[in-house]
Amino acid sequence: MRTLTVSLADRSYPIHIGVGLVERAGALIAPVLKRPRVFIVTDETVGGLYLESLLKSLDTAGIRHDHVVLPAGEGTKSFAQLEALLETLLAARVERSTTLVALGGGVIGDLTGFAAAILLRGVDFVQIPTTLLSQVDSSVGGKTGINTRHGKNLVGAFHQPRLVLADTTVLDSLPRRQLLAGYAEVVKYGVIDDPAFFGWLEKHGPELLDGDAKARIHAISTACEAKARVVAEDERESGCRALLNLGHTFGHAFEAETGYGASLHNGEATLLHGEAVAMGMVLALDLSVMIGVCPPEDAARLRAHMEAVGLIVDPRQLPGAPDWDVERLLEHMGHDKKVLDGRVTYVLARGIGQAYLCRDTDPGRVRAAMTEAVTERTPAP
Ligand SMILES: NC(=O)c1ccc[n+]([C@@H]2O[C@H](COP(=O)([O-])OP(=O)(O)OC[C@H]3O[C@@H](n4cnc5c(N)ncnc54)[C@H](O)[C@@H]3O)[C@@H](O)[C@H]2O)c1
Ligand SMILES: [Zn+2]
Repeated sequence: MRTLTVSLADRSYPIHIGVGLVERAGALIAPVLKRPRVFIVTDETVGGLYLESLLKSLDTAGIRHDHVVLPAGEGTKSFAQLEALLETLLAARVERSTTLVALGGGVIGDLTGFAAAILLRGVDFVQIPTTLLSQVDSSVGGKTGINTRHGKNLVGAFHQPRLVLADTTVLDSLPRRQLLAGYAEVVKYGVIDDPAFFGWLEKHGPELLDGDAKARIHAISTACEAKARVVAEDERESGCRALLNLGHTFGHAFEAETGYGASLHNGEATLLHGEAVAMGMVLALDLSVMIGVCPPEDAARLRAHMEAVGLIVDPRQLPGAPDWDVERLLEHMGHDKKVLDGRVTYVLARGIGQAYLCRDTDPGRVRAAMTEAVTERTPAP
């Protein structure tokens, strides 16, 4: 097991990363509890797989527990589910000293964290992230919240967990597609400021995706360390934390056009968040090449690695994709939460490992990059 710390003065907390942590969760959680009582929130899928093992470990550690099982999927991050959850918690006579435990992916983590932030004006919570995406991203950093009909994550709070347990074993049951979507966020940390990690991923990424525990622990630790560093420096995203949005402004536009996972193709979401980020990162580097700050080889290298592991980087090749409309996509980008005074801040890169924030990107260039990405290329004469 590897342990990292997110350093935030009296709100600092450990992240444990390793094999079989759910089975040992009781003992690992015990030291951060005010009283030996927890309330677990999970979804139907994850609950069916791991709740029993978690309950057993809590029993062994003498921790009293209740739980609630919510529907799986993005729809659960809603006002309706938040209300129901808060009422369930209050009906169970949860007290200020009770700790909530989020057992699941980013959906359960964000919802539970937000409930913890506002229940009784704030109770503690612990994250047990079960998707790669939530292990490397959403469980660390204290952003919590729900979606509204105006968009994703527009209502929420900063509320740091007391502990994060990232169990690499649970990733074995995660569908490959979900794993790959999370992998895009892992690659992001390399592209932002860690070229050596990017090189490591080019070599070992496939092993990690195929289940190699050592490779997983290394990648998750490196990603969490990077995120922890940024969060410690800029908890509330007034500066460098925005670098973590690499690929997200463009990605957000594709997500909005596909209903944030709501639009389906063959019964499955047309586009997952991480998949959108993969396309968005490639676009961000293409734009960086276009404005002359990034060597084309670096953009090509990112594209090649994403394709090598099986991520789709070309929005035109997405199965079930709508006919992308450049104007609508650009409009979605203008509605991104990260817009400041009506201006979009882009995360661009001078190369792999050299991302930077750009507040005065030429809109014409952005339009050109988007157009190039989504419209039919005219065949060479
Ligand atoms: N708070 C943040 O900083 C932050 C950062 C990034 C993303 N997010 C949020 O995270 C959410 C996406 O999270 P996600 O990708 O983890 O999605 P998710 O929580 O919906 O999980 C994806 C699917 O995988 C299933 N699942 C989870 N763990 C499993 C396992 N071990 N085995 C089998 N199935 C499993 C879930 O039931 C679900 O159906 C979005 O709402 C996004 O906004 C938040
Ligand atoms: Zn993301």
